[in-house]
Amino acid sequence: MITKDLNLAKEILTNKNLIAIPTETVYGLAGNAFSKTAVKKIFELKKRPLFNPLIVHIKSVEYLQEIATDIPASALKLAENFWPGPLTLVLNKKEIVPNIVTANKNTVAVRIPNHPVALQLLEELEFPLAAPSANPFSTISPTTPEHVQNYFGNELEAILDGGICERGIESTIIGFEGEQPIIYRLGSLSVEEIEEKVGKVFTINKDDNAPLAPGMMSRHYAPRTEMVLTPDLKETIKNYAGKRVGILAFHKMLPTINANNQEVLTETGDLQEAARNLYAAMHRLDNQKLDVIIAERLLDIGLGKTINDKLERATKKENQLTKSNEISDEEKNEALLNIMFPKSIP
Ligand code: TXA
Ligand code: MG
Repeated sequence: MITKDLNLAKEILTNKNLIAIPTETVYGLAGNAFSKTAVKKIFELKKRPLFNPLIVHIKSVEYLQEIATDIPASALKLAENFWPGPLTLVLNKKEIVPNIVTANKNTVAVRIPNHPVALQLLEELEFPLAAPSANPFSTISPTTPEHVQNYFGNELEAILDGGICERGIESTIIGFEGEQPIIYRLGSLSVEEIEEKVGKVFTINKDDNAPLAPGMMSRHYAPRTEMVLTPDLKETIKNYAGKRVGILAFHKMLPTINANNQEVLTETGDLQEAARNLYAAMHRLDNQKLDVIIAERLLDIGLGKTINDKLERATKKENQLTKSNEISDEEKNEALLNIMFPKSIP
């Protein structure tokens, strides 16, 4: 049920059940971050492997001390500049954060979302909220309450309505080696904005075989329809004669294609607007029963780089996560399940 009832939301969360919450980036599937029971439900509903840790959403910079320790000065500087906002920091965790939240890592990912509804909810709760994006594993993230409804309509007691997500793309994730910030996932906060505050940062966000953040997994934001990415729509479309083609264009439609099968991200060339529209456009095209979606690659500048990264992942056919001689995702998941929920011996 889509609702604005904050008291209902609080009651459900306090009972260790889940709701969807609005944030400025994408909708989150939220539960009490301090409750193993609630967090397990998140993994189950999302069908997310247990080795893929969650982000903890908190209410204030001061609260950070409750869940994280050894916080680098550069992390505090980023927090002070960009929180509340689309920035997630990966920091050493304190005991109070259950291992299931962090997939048994000794680090926790944390952010303060910049959305009035989420902030008010966090302010009124006694605990922070663990929340991944509110979509089944490997599908397109939700940026409207209706997207969440389509994914989880029958399984969620409440989808807290906060309108369309203003940013439209997930938070940028930053970890640290000593004082050195490292970008683990490109997101709504551009590399340029970050570097302006803390100097040159590296991005390690393409390593499929050892993902530091599973946003790094190649295929992660994927429509069901085949998708290709090109700098030149007009040229690429020639390869698809006789096919039902959809177009995901940056700022201009193609005159030769049915307008119903085209999405324009921003008519004025505004990257922020393009980011906000990206996932909703992908959702719509994916529902058109097309043979292929041809997406236009942007320049790798500012949010263009983030949008290109998400589009690239959407074109990948499958996860190239494990090599055949490595332990499989299922085995990893099973192993973590046994560690975190040991079966009591009869
Ligand atoms: O904008 C966002 O970040 C949204 C909203 C709801 O806040 N959340 C989101 O969550 O995108 P999710 O679960 O879809 O992505 C969380 C990412 C994953 O790639 C996960 O691997 C990474 O955060 N992550 C979480 N804990 C981590 C840790 N300790 N070390 C490295 N990466 C971590
Ligand atoms: Mg996600």
